[in-house]
Amino acid sequence: MQPKAKYRKDYRTPDFTITDISLDFQLDPDRTFVTSNLSVERKTAGASHLRLDGHSFDFLSLKLNGASYSNFEKDDESLTIDVSHITEDKFELQIETGLNPAQNTSLQGLYQSGDGICTQCEAEGFRQITYMLDRPDVLAKYRTKITASKAKYPFLLSNGNRIAQGDLEDGRHWVEWEDPFFKPSYLFALVAGDFDLLQDKFITKSGREVALEIYVDRGNLDRAGWAMESLKRSMKWDEDRFDLEYDLDIYMIVAVDFFNMGAMENKGLNVFNSKFVLAKPETATDTDYLDIESVIAHEYFHNWTGNRITCRDWFQLSLKEGLTVFRDQEFTSDLWSRPAKRIEDVRLLRAVQFAEDVSPMAHPIRPEKVIEMNNFYTVTVYEKGAEVIRMIHTLLGEEKFQKGMQLYVAENDGSAATCEDFVSAMERASGVDLTQFRRWYSQSGTPELSVSDEYDEMHHVYRLHVSQHTPATADQLEKVNLHIPLKIELYGEQSGEPIALQFEGTEQHNVLNVLQEHQTFEFHNVMHKPVPALLCDFSAPVRLDYNYTNEQLITLLKFAQNDFVRWDAAQTLFNNELRANLSRYQSGEALAFSEELTEALIYVLDNADKDVELTALMLTLPKETEFAELFKVIDPNGIAIVREFMLKTIAEILRGRLHEIYVRHKCGTYQVVAEDMSKRALRNVCLSYLAFTDLGNSLTYNHYKQADNMTDTLAALSAATKAQLPCRDQLLADFEEKWHHDGLVMDKWFMLQATRPDDNVLEIVQSLLNHRSFNFNNPNRLRSLVGAFCGQTPKAFHAIDGSGYRFLVDILIKLNETNPQVAARLIEPLIKLSRYDNQRQTLMRRGLERLKGLDNLARDLFEKIEKALH
Ligand code: TRP
Ligand code: ZN
Repeated sequence: MQPKAKYRKDYRTPDFTITDISLDFQLDPDRTFVTSNLSVERKTAGASHLRLDGHSFDFLSLKLNGASYSNFEKDDESLTIDVSHITEDKFELQIETGLNPAQNTSLQGLYQSGDGICTQCEAEGFRQITYMLDRPDVLAKYRTKITASKAKYPFLLSNGNRIAQGDLEDGRHWVEWEDPFFKPSYLFALVAGDFDLLQDKFITKSGREVALEIYVDRGNLDRAGWAMESLKRSMKWDEDRFDLEYDLDIYMIVAVDFFNMGAMENKGLNVFNSKFVLAKPETATDTDYLDIESVIAHEYFHNWTGNRITCRDWFQLSLKEGLTVFRDQEFTSDLWSRPAKRIEDVRLLRAVQFAEDVSPMAHPIRPEKVIEMNNFYTVTVYEKGAEVIRMIHTLLGEEKFQKGMQLYVAENDGSAATCEDFVSAMERASGVDLTQFRRWYSQSGTPELSVSDEYDEMHHVYRLHVSQHTPATADQLEKVNLHIPLKIELYGEQSGEPIALQFEGTEQHNVLNVLQEHQTFEFHNVMHKPVPALLCDFSAPVRLDYNYTNEQLITLLKFAQNDFVRWDAAQTLFNNELRANLSRYQSGEALAFSEELTEALIYVLDNADKDVELTALMLTLPKETEFAELFKVIDPNGIAIVREFMLKTIAEILRGRLHEIYVRHKCGTYQVVAEDMSKRALRNVCLSYLAFTDLGNSLTYNHYKQADNMTDTLAALSAATKAQLPCRDQLLADFEEKWHHDGLVMDKWFMLQATRPDDNVLEIVQSLLNHRSFNFNNPNRLRSLVGAFCGQTPKAFHAIDGSGYRFLVDILIKLNETNPQVAARLIEPLIKLSRYDNQRQTLMRRGLERLKGLDNLARDLFEKIEKALH
């Protein structure tokens, strides 16, 4: 049977709803029994059949209003109950199911993780536990009783408040939970296990005390502190900036090792991938610390933007995800460095989201058509969704944006809302017309902004000619003009002084409203020919096309007041250098390094002390996958070769300066504070270059030996691997010996192995599938080994003999059976075939066809393969 697509336009309110649900779990990893009591309400008069979603369990019994009932029809994914004889608008159902959590490798529904048992219900996992109206617009009150062995599962957790508990004579115990808030089934959670527990509390601004609890595997208590501090900072920040306060008396976080994604915002009981909870200096890098803080914040912020106000249907996913990503980005920006956070986010958007727009999976932030919902938890819905919210923020300003938020919350609290509800609240609260802006929700693809300029020396007038064009995408051929906020600054060409934006004597706002296909913006009293800084802070998720000369870029890099603009100028210089050399490489000419880029880098290094963090970011060479997005057709070999040429040349030319900075920026004892993190970042980027010089081996070896934290350890290991230094094997072996018992730490090692520049990297990856720390059923391990090889090592994955593709397809054939959700994420590099030459395309297509021929192809893979082969 071919999976069927659902369309946004087909949304209908449900004929029935469920107001109360009482669940009883008799837990056992090999045989769990679930009894569900549903209070059903008929909403459409005359509705005669109630269709409940459910699959992947044993259906044991059904009762209607207390009596056994058999007038139903059951298929692979649902149970349709004939209720035509029920005249009342309310009735009760009781459903018994049997499940096997230990065999559930899909990690959706109820499954075993390590020695514990947990749930994952978003998007449609609840239906793997019992029959339910498993859709986000059915909001019910939940009561959950869990019974299990007290020795194996001393902690039994669910949403809301613990209302009763007791011991049984057979060694089992039970706990009963009640969640006072109405919620959709995707926010239900249950956890059972033996944990170490970190406890704390938070006093909300209205003076209520909230118990905070973080549950981690036994022995990991010393790694839970950072997550707890992050949680308290998140709660405080949401009160300060958004005036939003927590609503229950308890907030629990459980860290589990087997998890398909990052974390899940279940009401009052977040379940986290342990990667985003556990940290101590010896095991976590600076980046890990920041990632943990932002994921903790993200899930916490969902309590309002996601839980209290949820989505009407899954097409509205960006309503909660785009907005919540925007909120966590703002949180990180307020607590740490705004420019650094912006740079990180823009890199992701340009490298991954822009790539999605030109892939077979292209979709608007509010998709129109979905086969498998899990396939739409994408960078487009999340990160581009956050960019759309950010543009609204740019157009309205903070004050009006917050007024809009207040109105949105007031109007939608306790209900399931749409993206339109959000935009409408923003519009009415601010008075800003968002009619044309709304198109960002329905149009897919990356708009291109072409800008040219002209300077009238006589009249001191400067004009910017702006055109917009959105190329057709796989899902949508016709495109319309968008409302694009274009933030600009002007700088004097000679000395780089900022130039005020004026029109007929009055000051102009520096955000231009681009609305039409062609528009001209005019500025007066411009006394010298300016260099324009365009798309400052990446004010819209678009590609900018302006013919910058390297001289202009150097002016911006040196003199712009906006840090993002300075960094972006450095990026463009790197991009130009790569482009020029790639065409030399492709036509067999010798590679050459430009004097302008040398001059720029010398300037950056000589001014390193003025802004250590920005210097580190400006020195960082874009990854191969970032460079790839400059091209319609990607040459993975050429990019790898030219990039390495750039690395080595920079290292040689700037060896002395890099070494001087490296020596001077040593930190004291490890601390997670901004100043030290910047120093480590700068020192480690210097090391990544110096590894390619004569100093490389001893410097890297000593760096590793002297490191008192994972940031430096990993920097040394990475330098040794990328530069293929003599000390590499010894260091890799040392690390493995020390950490082989710890999967999370070994993920860093697997990732380095998977991204080795060695010609035989695939062979190495293949043998590591049998490594003592590897586990095929653990998504983190799969992502660090298989995901990193296929996604981050383009030269080897796209080997012209097709070996990389065959490797991935073999893995996917297995994963199709065990964990289709993860399979559908790992297949991404294989479906982007249109970006490669004919020879590679043919091989990729062959791989996809091999998958397509599988008997029991999961709908997750089916949807992507169908689109790719189209
Ligand atoms: N809603 C979660 C978040 O944004 C992510 C999520 C969606 C998820 N589906 C999932 C997590 C499945 C784990 C498994 O934080
Ligand atoms: Zn989220």
